[in-house]
Amino acid sequence: MSKVECKLNVNGLTKKIYIFEDKPLIFALRNDFGLTGTKLGCGLEQCGSCAVIIDGEKKLSCNLPAIDCQNKEIVTIEGLGTDTSLNSVQEAFKKFNAAQCGYCTSGIIITVSSLLEKKNKPTSEDILNALDGHLCRCGSHSVVLKAIESLIEN
Ligand code: FES
Ligand code: FES
Repeated sequence: MSKVECKLNVNGLTKKIYIFEDKPLIFALRNDFGLTGTKLGCGLEQCGSCAVIIDGEKKLSCNLPAIDCQNKEIVTIEGLGTDTSLNSVQEAFKKFNAAQCGYCTSGIIITVSSLLEKKNKPTSEDILNALDGHLCRCGSHSVVLKAIESLIEN
C-alpha cells in the first residue's frame, strides 16, 4: 500500500500530510501534527480518551480514517483555548482538580465542550448521556461532575 495525500484542517490550520489510507485520525494528529493531547486508550472506540470535535460533533478518533476527515473542521484539546486562555471547561477542570493521572481528561473535556456548545444548560441526563463511554480508571468521576455542574450553575 502506498501513501496518499491527505489535507486536514486541525484547530484552524490546514496541513497536507502523506499517510497510508487506513491511518486512524488519532495517529495523524499525534504523529503528523504533533498534537499529543488526544490520547490512545483502548483503540476500540470503548473508552473515550481519543475524542475530538469534527464539524461540531464529538467523534472518536482511534478508528476513524484520517482521509475521511478531509474538508472538515477538526478541533483537538489543544484547539479549545489558547496558550494563555483556557476555555471555560478547561478552567473548571483546573479549578476543581478534576483529574488524577489525566489520561482520560482531554477526551472528557472535548465531550463537555461539545455538549455546552449545543446546550448551555444541559440536564443531568444530558451530561450523563454525553459522558457515557468515557472511562476513567482513576475514579475522577465525582469531581468531574462537580466541575461540570459549576459551569451550568454560573
Ligand atoms: S482510544 Fe478511542 S475510544 Fe478508546
Ligand atoms: S484521571 Fe486517570 S484515567 Fe481518568
